[in-house]
Amino acid sequence: MISEASNNIEIEQEIEQELEFSSVYRWQHWIRAASIVVLTITGFYIAVPFLIPAVNADPTNFMQALMRSWHIIFGFVLISVIILKSYLFIFGRKHEMERAAFKDILNPKIWIQQIGYYLLISKHPKLRGVYNPLQFMAYFTFYLMIFGLIITGLIMYVHVYHDGLGAFLYDVMKSIEVMMGGLAVVRITHHILTWGVMLFVLGHIYMAIYNAVFGKEGGMDAIFSGMKWHKKH
Ligand code: HEM
Repeated sequence: MISEASNNIEIEQEIEQELEFSSVYRWQHWIRAASIVVLTITGFYIAVPFLIPAVNADPTNFMQALMRSWHIIFGFVLISVIILKSYLFIFGRKHEMERAAFKDILNPKIWIQQIGYYLLISKHPKLRGVYNPLQFMAYFTFYLMIFGLIITGLIMYVHVYHDGLGAFLYDVMKSIEVMMGGLAVVRITHHILTWGVMLFVLGHIYMAIYNAVFGKEGGMDAIFSGMKWHKKH
């Protein structure tokens, strides 16, 4: 008992906690995650309506319309948090550590060491930013896919809602639709990007667990508490 307590004191003297993710960052992460789950489920229902409500004489079973309206509500939630996150990434004062990851991307040594770390043959490289180069590229691809889903989603949206925002965006979205080769291409692109995002989410969860098991800084905790552990300099 005594030796356990003295071990804890020793550890406390060697490591310190440091803020990794601000509370806005953590909130937008979880709101984004929840919207992606709802959008994927309702989206797949829109693609293949696998539930058929009990048949009744009144025309009250608008299941497809219900799914579509939740899809669009969460679509706009996602659009809002993506705009917020993009703003924070570019201008946020507390997000300097995110932008610093650019410097690590330009360093081939860090790339090699990071790949070695994943192969369990070398130590984790010392990073200047919060993301390692492979992670940064994966997140970059994720954002490209999300922006693709937003644009193709909005093109379909202006064909469903013709007033208000739908009317306002119609001309711009119509020209993108024509450039893409028509509504059928837009729809299939939206569908394929959904699979891309699902693959990303699987990889993302795998890497987060990998980090929690093999990492020493409590990387997984940071997205809940905001704090990460570092050796005292
Ligand atoms: C992670 C983000 C998203 C995912 C995973 C997703 C997924 C899907 C899927 C799988 C479909 C069915 C496509 C098909 O028919 O094969 C769909 C349809 C649709 N999505 Fe999304 N979507 C996302 C974001 C958005 C956004 C941001 C909007 C815009 C507000 C949007 C608006 C629509 C619309 C309007 C449809 C067509 C509805 C209909 O046919 O009546 N989606 N989505």
